[in-house]
Amino acid sequence: MDRRERPIGVFDSGVGGLTVLRELRRQLPNERTLYLGDEARMPYGPRPPGEVLDFTREAIGWFARADCKLVVLACNTASAVALETVREESAVPVIGVVRPGAAAALSASASGSVGVLATEGTVRSGSYARALHDLDPLVRVRQVACPALVPLVEAGETRTPAAETAVRGYVAPLVTGDGAVDTLLLGCTHYPLLREVIERVAGPAVRVVDSAATTALAVREVLASHRLLRDAATGATHRVFATGPRERFRAVARTLFGEDLPEVEEATLA
Ligand code: DGL
Repeated sequence: MDRRERPIGVFDSGVGGLTVLRELRRQLPNERTLYLGDEARMPYGPRPPGEVLDFTREAIGWFARADCKLVVLACNTASAVALETVREESAVPVIGVVRPGAAAALSASASGSVGVLATEGTVRSGSYARALHDLDPLVRVRQVACPALVPLVEAGETRTPAAETAVRGYVAPLVTGDGAVDTLLLGCTHYPLLREVIERVAGPAVRVVDSAATTALAVREVLASHRLLRDAATGATHRVFATGPRERFRAVARTLFGEDLPEVEEATLA
């Protein structure tokens, strides 16, 4: 198949990466996409790095067999832990969300102080701090692992008192007192769904950013510079695959995004 016609792969541990898919489709409406959510093995956040790497390798192999021209690791934990290794190992080009997220945070921050909210695995990897310091060696970075947030979002609890309490516990220490940050980077696919609560808790002086828009921009720039953008306005198909129970995947997606996914197809990774 003509290289330009091949789909873009989007990988996440579950449904949260649909936030990145949505932005990709908005910025690149002519592109075909294949979304894969490893719902059967999510969450990735608390898993040891070796396991996240193995799962991500399997996903990249799946996208390579599906003839993708580029894969986006929409999962922050997979990007943080596995991007460099899968890039070295695979012939398929791979883009992660950490560097685009870091770039978004730096353009938002007036004082050069950024707080990163992420899973335990992402925080432990230090990837966001590295990416931020690569782009701006003077930036001050504070990171907080927020293990309670993914289960709350998965349970559809994005506006409840429990969500508010959990968010307050993670965010309040970052935005008050000495060393308060002026920008919060949502370093996890699920946190944009808590944006309203996070913004309320952080207060109007704090900017809250995520990586979806800058990641889609990075994809567009890479494909454009290699003349790999698809130019036909018709035939941009979008397929969604999940491991594990597809009904659960659809139900969580419906709760999170308030809309039905057209069809969820079955994928096997292990
Ligand atoms: N997709 C993961 C991330 O962005 C969050 C969910 C999980 O822990 O698997 O880090």
